[in-house]
Amino acid sequence: MAGDCLKIGIVGAGFIVKASHVPAIAQSEKCVIKGFFDIKKELADESKKLYLRQLKKHKNPLLETAIAETKSYDSLESLIDDVDIINIATPPKYHLENLRAAVDAGKHVICEKPLERNWWAVNAYSDTFQAIRDKKVKFVLHTQAIWNPLVQAGRNLLENGIVGDIDRIRILQQGKDPKHTVALPALWDKFNSGGGSLTDIGPHPYSVMQYWLGGKYKPVNVKANLLSATIPVRTIGGKPGTKVTVEDDAHVTITWRDDAGHELCGDLEATWNKRDWANGSRCGGPSIMNYEARGSKGVLTFPYALFNLSRPIGLGAGYVFRGEDGSRSALKFKIPPPGIEDASFFDEFMDVINGNTRARNDLEFAEDMLKVFGAAYLSRKRGFVDVTLDEFMTYANDIAKDFPKPDDQIVAVIRDLFVDF
Ligand SMILES: NC(=O)c1ccc[n+]([C@@H]2O[C@H](COP(=O)([O-])OP(=O)(O)OC[C@H]3O[C@@H](n4cnc5c(N)ncnc54)[C@H](O)[C@@H]3O)[C@@H](O)[C@H]2O)c1
Repeated sequence: MAGDCLKIGIVGAGFIVKASHVPAIAQSEKCVIKGFFDIKKELADESKKLYLRQLKKHKNPLLETAIAETKSYDSLESLIDDVDIINIATPPKYHLENLRAAVDAGKHVICEKPLERNWWAVNAYSDTFQAIRDKKVKFVLHTQAIWNPLVQAGRNLLENGIVGDIDRIRILQQGKDPKHTVALPALWDKFNSGGGSLTDIGPHPYSVMQYWLGGKYKPVNVKANLLSATIPVRTIGGKPGTKVTVEDDAHVTITWRDDAGHELCGDLEATWNKRDWANGSRCGGPSIMNYEARGSKGVLTFPYALFNLSRPIGLGAGYVFRGEDGSRSALKFKIPPPGIEDASFFDEFMDVINGNTRARNDLEFAEDMLKVFGAAYLSRKRGFVDVTLDEFMTYANDIAKDFPKPDDQIVAVIRDLFVDF
């Protein structure tokens, strides 16, 4: 393969690989897809064809090499042998076994969100992660929103003190494509996904919250305000009358603490249904997400569609700042090209591997996220009370100790969290 280009092997060639990974990697000249492995070989073949079409569309000079060398593989092992990086995009239940095989072979790892179904999986297979902790191989979790220049602009505004000291942050996200969600029964199976909308959509608002806080705060406490199947019976995977056994709407308040002991609240909503705050009030505009930071000087809100008088006349994306003094100002930004966040994500990880920068979504971030989600499920189970991350870890340990095998422990923790759902 060409020059110092890094070779990626993709495991799982379903929805997200076609919608996001392949189009993004086809824009990069720092990396090339060496191959795909999927238990359904025809999907790997389709993704390979899509990759070649995308390289052509972008007039990427790597097209020639890809035509000669990119292929679909018959086994994970043979794919691992041929690449520098394994990119895991299977359902969450299979993330860990693929990650383990990649890390054992000394390969870098990109993993789709969430890292696993439940934090216990990460704890039970702790040895797997040692090579990542020892920085022998690099790791990043894919939650693309924070690579979007508009979301980065929000972080810059906050860092420059637009709202003063932040005391509350609210990040809400709705599943972009409810039909896709409903078409995939596996997403509604807690033993496959770890939960419902919180584990599926929650990684996006969680990552924006952590990122907007400058990565300087750690989550310490969680309280679920609402976590339920608001539509208890649905047509899922074409089967009418299917009983829903995971949440389709989650409102969670996270307490974040910095090194100096300063605490602030983060309200996170992850929904497969409708966007509203936990108190039932409507929020935001027609967008699938709504971000807000409140501080001593005022409130910053995103996104707003703003009328843009510069040419071409049209809508621009932007932030609105409402000052404590009643002032209101609109902050306009150019709308970035679609998919730019994915392209930046892959390019940046190549720089991480080459030692030029640090991974934004590192292992600690991915693990903290799973602790927060676990604590949220435990909070619901205990009657919507506060649960510290330490309490959740102790709870998971108590459940797991009765089962000798790690895989049974993971299932036991998930089953217990949802036992009365
Ligand atoms: N970042 C995002 O915006 C985003 C969006 C959707 C999904 N995701 C994540 O991407 C991952 C995949 O989701 P999806 O919607 O693409 O699912 P999908 O079901 O469409 O695709 C998963 C693919 O993995 C294959 N597969 C299953 N087990 C395998 C194994 N052991 N080895 C190899 N292949 C295997 C399946 O055949 C399927 O083609 C999940 O972790 C999900 O949370 C992320």
